[in-house]
Order: sequence, then structure tokens, then C-alpha cells
Amino acid sequence: MPTLPIGFSEQSRRTGDSPISYFIQTAIETPGLISLAAGLVDEGSLPAGPVGAAVAAILATPATARAALQYGSTQGLPALREQIVRHVCHADGVTPAEMHLSAADVVLTTGSQQMLYLLGELLFNPGDIVICEAPSYFVYHDCLKSHGARVVSVPMDAGGMNLDALEDLLVRLEAEGELAKVKLIYTVDYYQNPTGLSLAADRRPKLVALAKRFSTAHRILILEDAAYRELRYDGEDVVSVKRFDPTNEYVVYTSTFSKPCAPGLKTGYSILPRGLMEPTCNLKGNHDFGSTNLAQHILHKMIETGSYAEHVEHLRTVYRAKKNAMLGALEAEFADWPEVRWTRPGGGLYVWVTFPPHVATGKGGQLMAKALAAGILYIPGEYGHVPDDFGHVPANEIRLSFGVADEAKITEGVRRLRTACRGLEKVKVEKPVLV
Ligand SMILES: Cc1ncc(COP(=O)(O)O)c(C=O)c1O
Repeated sequence: MPTLPIGFSEQSRRTGDSPISYFIQTAIETPGLISLAAGLVDEGSLPAGPVGAAVAAILATPATARAALQYGSTQGLPALREQIVRHVCHADGVTPAEMHLSAADVVLTTGSQQMLYLLGELLFNPGDIVICEAPSYFVYHDCLKSHGARVVSVPMDAGGMNLDALEDLLVRLEAEGELAKVKLIYTVDYYQNPTGLSLAADRRPKLVALAKRFSTAHRILILEDAAYRELRYDGEDVVSVKRFDPTNEYVVYTSTFSKPCAPGLKTGYSILPRGLMEPTCNLKGNHDFGSTNLAQHILHKMIETGSYAEHVEHLRTVYRAKKNAMLGALEAEFADWPEVRWTRPGGGLYVWVTFPPHVATGKGGQLMAKALAAGILYIPGEYGHVPDDFGHVPANEIRLSFGVADEAKITEGVRRLRTACRGLEKVKVEKPVLV
């Protein structure tokens, strides 16, 4: 008897494996390969000591041990939510009261990735539109595809999302009668994954103003993904987009303890605009009725004792050195090829390199083959883009991460990248055919 097929849902059919799984697998399977591909965090600085101390303190007394080992609530540990709302508002130079915010507006999730997913289930019907930066966080693109949402992109420049282009796009969508389909504008506004670029300070209030102006039948929400905000190595912190939403209506502010503390705790948090908390908790209740309670207690303890703040300070020193190693190596190795450009981020984990248009960086492209032969792995930039109306994506960019590799490996990795590029500097001009 032939095995009958499984009756997969439409959503399941829309959901594929992430293209970067291939790169993670390649990195694991290839001995000697230096991976500047995956966005994992630095291993040596993972906070084993502070997490151990927090766990010991929690388990030392029966009352706290029981509280941490029991189920928590769907919305998450109130004491941690209180710390978070104060932490985010403090970074923005305001009090929660000034922003009309309290712990009741915060939800704790299984990484911030869960919020990205839940928001999709809450907002999108197939065909709804999400406006993203180009390039953007490719894992989120996969998630949007799975929800059947349509990604429309807005170009970036050195100041992040180009808001003139966003305005033009919204005007065009309005003229085409598509505005009602626009549900969300997504921005990774601090040291973006994948470019390392941040949204300029003066664009932040304008972004909220645009979302408001074009909201007609429903609010066009802004999803401010501040995953890398705390990984800041140079310059001052910039206030959030959320700061310009004092009535708490338009901006979902989401962030995570994965990057500034430990991805293994897989704890993210979001500040939700009015009207969104109850539906979110209802949905999250169906998913898991609460994220890992022990992890939330650990983070609460670390914030309370000050070990979290100390750790973030330490991480800044560690990553600053790695980032400088990567930028220094790029300066040194590519000095003789001025057409190659790269970003100089003040934080985060990524540097975005743009080659001249003839250099094909994608999976089947020349550079990828030569890079693997030279023992270096990167992420092709094309995954950060969605195809334009002609099915075209830029294929001459790459994302490098200085997260996992140590300084020596970063330097050697960039040297190998330069080796891989040998012979690609010049566009090959076909000899004219003489008749
Ligand atoms: C921009 C961005 N947002 C969200 C996430 C999700 O991280 P987590 O679920 O660990 O909080 C990541 C992870 O790399 C990311 O780069």
C-alpha cells in the first residue's frame, strides 16, 4: 500500500527551511573553516558565573526555589516585567509614568523571535503587507512568508530606513488602494542585523508620524526590534522609536536577553501598545501558557544584584575589540580595492560588505566557491532582500559577523576572504569579435 500524503495546512506549505541552515551545517561539517557567518554570541564571555550565582541564590530558599520551578504566568514574571519597563524608560530618559507605561504593558516571550511570530498570527491575513528595510533580518522574512504576508521593502542609507522612500511607498500604496493591507512597519533600529546600521535620531519621531498619518481603517503598527540596543561599543545611546509614542498606541518595542546576556536563557520581552496585550496573551496561552519561568527568575535576580549591568559592560569591551579587529582587517586587506565598501557599526554583531556589482556572492556564485576553498564562510547578502517587481535581488553583498570567532580568527578570516577575492577585482571584458 503506498503511504498516503499528510494533509499539511496552507501555512505549513508556505513554511520552508531557512536558507541559512545550510551555512550553519557547512560551518559545523568543515574542519578548519572560519565561520564569520552565524550570528551566535561570543562563547568565552557567556555569563556562567553570574548565572550560576543567580541559580544558587534562587534555589537556596524553598520559597524562591518553588516559585521559580513552578509554572509561571502567560504574560511572565511581574517583578521582571517591572524591571524591564524601568530599564527601557531609563535608557530613554523618561519615567514609565511619563510614557503611560507600566509592567502591565510588558510581555515576556521565548526569545524576541516568539514575539515576531506571534505578532504575525495576530495581525496578518494572507496578502497583508509588511514594510521592511532592505536588507532586513532574513529569519523574519521566513516567518512573514509562513504567515502569507507580503514584504515590501524600503531602501536604507547610512541613517537606516530611508523615510522619504517610505513616505513615497505609502503614498503609492494609498493611490493603489492597498493601504488597508499595510499592517506593520518593521525596523531593526539599533546596529541592524544584517547591516550594522542604526536609524538616525531625527528619523525616529518622523517614523511614528508617518505611521500615524497613514493609519486610516486601523493602526499601522511599528515593530521596533531593538535586539542589539545594549550591544553598543561607540557613541551615545539613541532614544527609541517607542519614546515618540507617548500615548502607547503605535509602537511594539521588542528586545531580548539573548544578545546582552545568554541566548540559552531564550528570554525576550516586548512593550505592547494599547489593545494588544490581551490578544497576545490569549494566543501565547495556546502556544505555551508562559515562557520558561526559571530563566525569568534568573534574569530578575541578575538585574536585582547588578550582575546583569556588570556583564553588559564587560561584553561591550569584548565586542568592541572584536569589531575593531574586523574593521582593521578589512582596512588592511582591502586597501588595494577601493570599490569594496563596508559599514562601520558602533555596536551589534555585524559588518555589511558591498562588492562591485559583478562579484556574485550568492550560494552558487564565484565568491562563495572560492571562499569555501579558502576556508572562510559568510552569509550572502541576497537573503536579506526580497525580490523586486522583476524578481531581482542585489547579489554583490555579504554579511560578516564578529560574534563567535576570536580576534585572531576574525583577522585570519578576513585575510582568507581577500584571498578568495583574488582574480575577481576586474570585470572581465569580452574581447570584441573582429569581422
Ligand atoms: C534582529 C533580530 N531580532 C530578533 C532575534 C531573535 O533573537 P532571540 O529570539 O534569541 O531573542 C534575532 C536573533 O538573532 C535578531 O537578530
